[in-house]
Amino acid sequence: MASYVETAQEIAREAGALIRQFLEKRIGFEMKGEFDLVTEADRSSERLIVERLLKHFPSHAVVAEEGGGQEGASGYRWYVDPLDGTTNFAHGFPMFNVTLALERDGELIAGVVFDPVHDEMFSAERGSGAFLNGARIHVSKAATIAQTLTATGFPSRKRHQNVNIHFYYQLAMLSHGVRRAGAAALDLAYVAAGRLDAFWEFGLNPWDMAAGVLLIREAGGVCTDMHGNPMSVRGPHLLADNGIVHGEIVALFEEIFQGKYRFAMPEMKPS
Ligand code: IPD
Ligand code: CA
Ligand code: CA
Repeated sequence: MASYVETAQEIAREAGALIRQFLEKRIGFEMKGEFDLVTEADRSSERLIVERLLKHFPSHAVVAEEGGGQEGASGYRWYVDPLDGTTNFAHGFPMFNVTLALERDGELIAGVVFDPVHDEMFSAERGSGAFLNGARIHVSKAATIAQTLTATGFPSRKRHQNVNIHFYYQLAMLSHGVRRAGAAALDLAYVAAGRLDAFWEFGLNPWDMAAGVLLIREAGGVCTDMHGNPMSVRGPHLLADNGIVHGEIVALFEEIFQGKYRFAMPEMKPS
């Protein structure tokens, strides 16, 4: 019998192929709320994933972003983001993924992030390591913030309440750079693979981070809230990195939370 992670990979591949077909057709999008896009690809991908999951695991609960899941008392719960990076997808910016993760009695036990554009399958099972297309991956060895390439994200909802620009600016000044690629699950998978050294975001949903958190832990990294305390996939805030730079980032974030900025933002001078 296939393992949970094998079944999740198979389903993510199928959903990824479906999304690629939609991409080729350059379908339109609708607004879920102000600035929040949803496309037919999100919905079709979710229908496919939920149907497959319930066929394999009828007693499992499924929490899916577009609302297609079900409750269940088995202790098993899947988190599904049928298309992470919808804004990118809708604009033809090739950075998006399908991600699924499984929790048993509140503990993450399997997760996958599939990037159908680059044909990259990131997968992890609790206690068995993290993999990219079947090859073992590890977090980076960057030792200080000054050596890092980091990434962050900004949610589409309630942007005016998001304080992240302060964090973004300080990290941008101190590190090799901060990427904002627009697909949180892939950012996390990249931390697990050592392509990025750290990622943080305020206001994530469980389906954005569940698989990525397991990937990072299994690749040797660390995931906490913004203060270095234990995080929950119910979130909503996440700081994830290679573990080596964690203390330095948490200390920097504490300064920012207190309004102490090492670098003042440049003043605008009329030209
Ligand atoms: C979004 C992306 C984005 C992140 C947002 C997420 P969606 O997911 O992961 O990078 O900054 O917080 O909501 O809506 O495209 O599935
Ligand atoms: Ca998402
Ligand atoms: Ca989504």
